[in-house]
Amino acid sequence: MSLPALIPGTASRKVEHVKVVLGTDVQFRKKTTMFEDVRLIPKGGTHSGDFAYTIDTNTDFLGRKIAAPIFVSGMTGGHDKVAKINMDIAGGVSEVGIPMGVGSQRAMMEHPELAYTYDVKKEHKDVILLGNIGASHAMVYSVKQIKEMLDKVDADFLCIHTNPGQEAAQVGGDIKYKGALKAISDVAENIDRKVIVKEVGNGISKEVAAMLAKTKVAGIDTGGAGGTNWIAVELYRAGGTRSMDIYRDWGLPTAGSLLEVKSAFDGFVTATGGIRTGVDIAKAIALGADACGLAYPVLKAQSRGGAKGVADYLRHIIMELKVEMARLNCKDINELRGVGYTTHGQLKHLLEQRVGRSLLQREPA
Ligand SMILES: Cc1cc2nc3c(=O)[nH]c(=O)nc-3n(C[C@H](O)[C@H](O)[C@H](O)COP(=O)(O)O)c2cc1C
Repeated sequence: MSLPALIPGTASRKVEHVKVVLGTDVQFRKKTTMFEDVRLIPKGGTHSGDFAYTIDTNTDFLGRKIAAPIFVSGMTGGHDKVAKINMDIAGGVSEVGIPMGVGSQRAMMEHPELAYTYDVKKEHKDVILLGNIGASHAMVYSVKQIKEMLDKVDADFLCIHTNPGQEAAQVGGDIKYKGALKAISDVAENIDRKVIVKEVGNGISKEVAAMLAKTKVAGIDTGGAGGTNWIAVELYRAGGTRSMDIYRDWGLPTAGSLLEVKSAFDGFVTATGGIRTGVDIAKAIALGADACGLAYPVLKAQSRGGAKGVADYLRHIIMELKVEMARLNCKDINELRGVGYTTHGQLKHLLEQRVGRSLLQREPA
């Protein structure tokens, strides 16, 4: 495994991440999201004659109206070479009417002149924007500094990512997590935006969700296993200098994480990590997610077709969701939330041990 020479610094790391994710197979290998262990039960009745075209996917995202229960999960910013990626994603989501996140804004904290690489609203004012900072950086910066960081790009919400697995695998990663919960809690209590806590692919457990439930955090994004694998990305970047291969497939699968979080947290919950089809999205919504996040597939669509590629891809996945909703006889997202489901295999086994029987299945409403 060889990699071009590393460019030092937070900003350059963001360029490398994009290159590695697009150029190498760093998705989970054996582990899946476990959504394949969910079966949805169609409601009785017959399909609408107009099929998928009359199905309404509009929904609510923390008080904002959006066109479908989907958002683009935060990925990048912080270097001139990735500014266009954010702007293209903004162009795509603006056409479709769903929110987007930017990647960690740490680079603009360190170099304020890089703020423009995240500032997609200067061209796409209507975009609902999720700002982003790491939990370990929420410990370092004051609430006032974080608020200024969000103001500079007019972010509507703040995502705080917790990624101890990635940091542990990253050469020079920041593994000081003592005090992170208090920092998250302080920010959520004192900042003028709703805060979502997210993982990046190792999943949030019910124990973590229960701790967050005692804070003012408004939302949790599962960031579960089954999609992009950040331990794999960092091991690849380390070029064989890290002996952490045993952790290559570590993480709580997205479907399991979703139900664990739902068992312990009453707030807004989103499912991210390996969401790849409209069927995955329908299953996540039926299991209780308010929306689903996608990262890697959107990055791929952007690299191939710019803003148009992003918009086309998002329209395609929304159409897949509509077809699945038509199959299930659900005319809108509220009906999808009430659809019956059963769980099987590994997921059922996990849930029996972790959340008890109540979430294992649901009879159709
Ligand atoms: C190139 C790239 C960069 C990312 N950078 C960040 C980041 O800076 N902050 C963050 O919270 N998540 C980051 N993520 C994680 C995503 O938001 C998402 O949680 C994860 O990739 C799982 O989704 P996926 O399987 O659809 O890719 C990044 C993802 C990608 C693909």
